[in-house]
Amino acid sequence: MRILSGIQPSGSLHLGNYFGMMKKMIDYQQQGELFCFIANYHAMTSLSDGKALARGTLEAAANFLALGMDPQRSTFWVQSDVPEVQELAWFLSNFTPMGLLERCHSYKDKVAKGIAANHGLFAYPVLMSADILLFNSDRVPVGKDQKQHVEVTRDIAIKVNNVYGEIFTLPEPDIDDEVATVPGLDGQKMSKSYGNTIDLFQEEKALRKQVMRIVTDSTPVEAPKNPDSCNLFQIYRLFLDKAGQEALRQRYLAGGTGYGEIKEELFVTIRDYFAPFTERRNALLQDSDQLRQTLQQGADKARREAVRVMRKVRKKAGLAY
Ligand code: TYM
Repeated sequence: MRILSGIQPSGSLHLGNYFGMMKKMIDYQQQGELFCFIANYHAMTSLSDGKALARGTLEAAANFLALGMDPQRSTFWVQSDVPEVQELAWFLSNFTPMGLLERCHSYKDKVAKGIAANHGLFAYPVLMSADILLFNSDRVPVGKDQKQHVEVTRDIAIKVNNVYGEIFTLPEPDIDDEVATVPGLDGQKMSKSYGNTIDLFQEEKALRKQVMRIVTDSTPVEAPKNPDSCNLFQIYRLFLDKAGQEALRQRYLAGGTGYGEIKEELFVTIRDYFAPFTERRNALLQDSDQLRQTLQQGADKARREAVRVMRKVRKKAGLAY
């Protein structure tokens, strides 16, 4: 069973990224063959500041490693260090109907928001398909927002396989209902572009400020509250086991606990949860040469696999003459 996923290094990572994808990937290391990368080519669709992208790439790598990604056990690399993925994307483009990309929600949403569409944004799902198919991935852990992109990958792979025989494995999206869409401060999907995130690894003061900004209703302290419609509960729940969730639910239903008090507890919970990883993250960032070396070794491992698959594709396509 091969498991693969990627994450963009555009800006700081948030609880949606962590629970939707990173934590699952880290836990999966016990079960299968794990491939994980920093999607810096994809980040270029929203970031044209080269220095910021380079810094963000190292930070994203340090975050993932600090949280438990084991580069010995898994294959962990930066997307652009395996340029075969671009060659495969071009190959796949020739099997990608325009209509398939025109129907993609994330593309349509960005256009609807007035973002001027360019070819990079339009072709984003093709590059993502190349990421997945280049490594014959069986399972792709993602949040719900990426489900359609994995379905597009399957459609493209089926088209290629129909023409050339079984070159590609058909991947399955791997989405947990519990964390499919982690809500942000305002209850919409947590997303950097909505400015409603709680970020990993930040100063205590800034973290506290974000938690205090979680939107709640105006039920008075003493009155019973509804946990299911409460955004604060939906975020807090992520840090609790079943018994902890039930205990919090009962406190909501009983009344007498104010949102401010719960927010204060949540702040402490988040702070303490990530505290043990912070030191390791900072140490990794201090020694950026060592970090680059770790990523280079990951890229070498990934590339061996990529070259093997591309050799097959080149032969089938007639590029090897
Ligand atoms: P990205 O960088 O936007 O997000 C990384 C992962 O975090 C998940 N996620 C969420 N999950 C639940 N609730 C949320 N609020 C939330 N916000 C983000 C995303 O679903 C994602 O799994 N296109 C991908 C990166 C990528 C990729 C790939 C993934 C490039 N190539 C190949 C898988 C396979 C992306 O933009 O993720």
